[in-house]
Amino acid sequence: MSTATTRAPKREAFGSRNVFILSAIGSAVGLGNIWRFPYVAYEGGGGAFLIPYLCALLTAGIPLLFFDYAIGHRFRGSAPLAFRRLHRAAEPLGWWQVLICVVISVYYAVIIAWAAMYTWFSAQLSWGPGNENDFFFGDFLNMGDVAGGISLEFVPQVGIPLLVVWVVTIVIMGFGVKRGIGAANSVLLPLLTVMFIVLVVQSLFLPGAMDGLNAFFTPNWQALGDPAVWASAYGHIFFSLSVAFGIMVTYSSYLKRKTDLTGSGLVVGFANSGFEILAGIGVFAALGFMAQAQSAQVSDVASAGIGLAFVAFPTIVSQAAGGPLIGVLFFGALTFAGLTSMISILEVIVAAIQDKLGWGRIRATLIVTIPLAVISMAFFSTTTALAVLDTTDAFVNAFGIMAVALVAVIVVAWLLHKLPVLSEHLNRRSSFRTGLTWKLLVGLLAPIVLGYLFISELVAKINTPYEGYPDWFLSIFGWGMVISLVILAVILSLVPWSRRSHAKDDPEYDEFLVEESYEPDAETGTIRTAEGAGA
Ligand code: ALA
Repeated sequence: MSTATTRAPKREAFGSRNVFILSAIGSAVGLGNIWRFPYVAYEGGGGAFLIPYLCALLTAGIPLLFFDYAIGHRFRGSAPLAFRRLHRAAEPLGWWQVLICVVISVYYAVIIAWAAMYTWFSAQLSWGPGNENDFFFGDFLNMGDVAGGISLEFVPQVGIPLLVVWVVTIVIMGFGVKRGIGAANSVLLPLLTVMFIVLVVQSLFLPGAMDGLNAFFTPNWQALGDPAVWASAYGHIFFSLSVAFGIMVTYSSYLKRKTDLTGSGLVVGFANSGFEILAGIGVFAALGFMAQAQSAQVSDVASAGIGLAFVAFPTIVSQAAGGPLIGVLFFGALTFAGLTSMISILEVIVAAIQDKLGWGRIRATLIVTIPLAVISMAFFSTTTALAVLDTTDAFVNAFGIMAVALVAVIVVAWLLHKLPVLSEHLNRRSSFRTGLTWKLLVGLLAPIVLGYLFISELVAKINTPYEGYPDWFLSIFGWGMVISLVILAVILSLVPWSRRSHAKDDPEYDEFLVEESYEPDAETGTIRTAEGAGA
């Protein structure tokens, strides 16, 4: 075997810790923060929601963020490789996370495409004042009824921007970790932050803004007694922090060895929450204005996720002084926030394929992203897009992200007893030390809370068909999709690793183990034998 032809490409790296932090914040701050959080918070009791939210952040979000960082940085690989190095039998967990990203990426791109189009529509009030709802569901999405079967009728005003979103993302990904992902985040995140601050300040000056803030911040203490509110806080924090679906494992594998992991994690976690709360303030100030303009209550104008962003906001844009600017800032911020998260979701898949097959960046990027772009366009620029999107999103969150988080903590903490190894690795260079509290949060509290949430979601979704969609539809895009992710993950873990892959031949990893005085990974020793490591 000749070394020259079999050696895997050198592992990529972020230019600096700051670029990593920007990219991790770029991944975390996404559609979840801007259109999901404000409504989830409002529905979960307004100001009182901040209590379950902060509990979820401190007891599960940040501890699991550290858990992801520790796995990615200690085992220096994409999710499947890092889990495999942790223990050979854990590889399917990595593929499960990769497949979750496959599903999320195909619909996430669509919402970015909508946001990009609405940035343009806002500038010229394309919907026509008073027609915001019909414009979104009718003129723009051309929405059909799923009861009539799945329609693949192409909707060009969605399909074309969707294609543009994919092309932009593919180009960024093609440039790699440092020149593509790192550079894009270094530009887009500061831009997004400035746009967002201007938007929030402008919203606060709208007449009625204070009524909106009162509705958002006035605590409804009763809501704290409702387990569903706690469930939504925990459910939200994983998606929002990009935890448990491979992103942080992958990103931290690109970090230099001597990095303060927990310090970076705290910056990322609090920056994400800061953004989220700012989004809540901006959105509710604007809703306060809308309620006053319509002589209605804020609760009457606050509607759920997609509706809030694409119906209520355009209404505000139509009615407020300087509305088009508010619209451009809001939808522009949503587009940029979505893009920086989208590239992190795709990176999980590209990195996994690169590691497994030993492929270079461009080849892996094109072979992974082009089929995803085709699937995304085939399903989501059609008249049944909204129902498919809504269903896959709900199911992949509950039975994908939360389920894999639950299984991962049980496997790593209880079956493999690896939390001490991970904690020791975190503590080597970190400013904030992890100890017994972290192990209890990850190994005990997280499985209890996640287990409870998983079971309650399962019972709820079995008893009540999601959104009343027909059974055949939920069997394909809901249950069928989440079950096939698990089966496919096991199958992918059985596919042999290429002889050129990092699993077989990674001199940098060998060097890292020696310099850090770590034992070779016993479980993967068979794939990093003299033949693989030193040939
Ligand atoms: N963390 C990303 C979001 O909030 C995925 O949208």
